[in-house]
Amino acid sequence: MADRTIALASDHAGYDLKLELACLVADLGFEPLDLGTHDRESVDYPDFGAELGRAVADGRAALGVLVCGTGIGISIAANRNPAVRAALCHDTTTARLARQHNDANVLSIGARTTGPETAKDILRAFLETPFEGGRHARRVDKLATC
Ligand code: RB5
Repeated sequence: MADRTIALASDHAGYDLKLELACLVADLGFEPLDLGTHDRESVDYPDFGAELGRAVADGRAALGVLVCGTGIGISIAANRNPAVRAALCHDTTTARLARQHNDANVLSIGARTTGPETAKDILRAFLETPFEGGRHARRVDKLATC
């Protein structure tokens, strides 16, 4: 990956896990870009999903990582940006296939549904797996027009 910047964003429910994942991003040799939230005070997940979507769309980051309570709301928000392909993952197989087949550019994780060690394994799989291209590229291209 040419650009090693990985954007991260969460709401209050995902704040602690986001910090742990940001450390792992750095440990793996990437550059974390933390788009908030910056404490545990209650906030609205759409604001953070949308901002992370903009960061990926405008090239501030190559990939993004989202965390909210379930990972659902914040991924819905990010996916409203046409440049975003956010995948909510609960296991490493899904994370790997989201990269290989869907060229997912945003990973979403639920802090209330996924333990921190599993979340780190998921993030590792996501960051280390390339898009396979080939027949999958045709399908991913179609996503832009549906
Ligand atoms: C916040 O309580 C919670 O609703 C949010 O983190 C998320 O789970 C929404 O999808």
